[in-house]
Amino acid sequence: MEVIIGKSHDELSKAAAQVIADVVNSKPDAVLGLATGSTPLALYKELIRMHTEEGLDFSHCTTFNLDEYVGLTPDHDQSYHYFMNENLFKHINIPPENIHIPSGTTQNYLAFCEWYEMRIEECDGIDIQVLGIGSDGHIAFNEPGSSLGSRTRIKTLAKQTIEDNARFFDKPEDVPIYAITMGVGTILEADTLILLANGESKAQAISDAIEGPVSSWCTASALQLHPDSLLYIDEAAAAKLKMLDYYQWIQDKKPGAPAGS
Ligand code: PGA
Repeated sequence: MEVIIGKSHDELSKAAAQVIADVVNSKPDAVLGLATGSTPLALYKELIRMHTEEGLDFSHCTTFNLDEYVGLTPDHDQSYHYFMNENLFKHINIPPENIHIPSGTTQNYLAFCEWYEMRIEECDGIDIQVLGIGSDGHIAFNEPGSSLGSRTRIKTLAKQTIEDNARFFDKPEDVPIYAITMGVGTILEADTLILLANGESKAQAISDAIEGPVSSWCTASALQLHPDSLLYIDEAAAAKLKMLDYYQWIQDKKPGAPAGS
């Protein structure tokens, strides 16, 4: 795990966007795993800027989103289909047929989940996966107790998540209770993971994820099992880390480190 701590979420998001741009530039048909929520907004803004001003080309890329609410149609303004279109896809040159987002309205969730996993495999897997983290430590909608080997499936949201997301809906009772989500096992198969976290509401989850035991009670802790994960964390979200000085020391010493370290 590479833990990068910074003052500004915007600056960290720009650094994360550069990592994604490097992947796209070196592999034009890269497969990108994408996330929703307030966390990746600055990252998407930077990718849009890179596309508009620097010609970053997504025309051969394929994308897979992590999750979607069950019951929301793609045109619902709180659906993740809508979010992705508004905040990224309509501003870049990704062909619509290369975009994959779990369906919140399929007639057969079991078959859809199997198809989603199969499509990821057919595309030779995800090169780089963007992740946020829930205040309960979830990645995608893998709530506490989700198997670390889980695959794409339906998940019942935790009350904490429903509360956290109520701010986006008119009434708390409008927040969906179920979601379709990639599993922790699905996520761990991506070549590189990028997790972003900002704000003090994420501090406990970040501490559990990085310094706690690997446990299904904090599914983000599964990143400890991944050989190539980058965590971009602002100071508020990093506030409960015990080894803060060490992570900073590693970053300071990085320019002089032997190649491959
Ligand atoms: P947020 O959600 O980016 O809106 O904080 C993150 C998550 O729940 O994964």
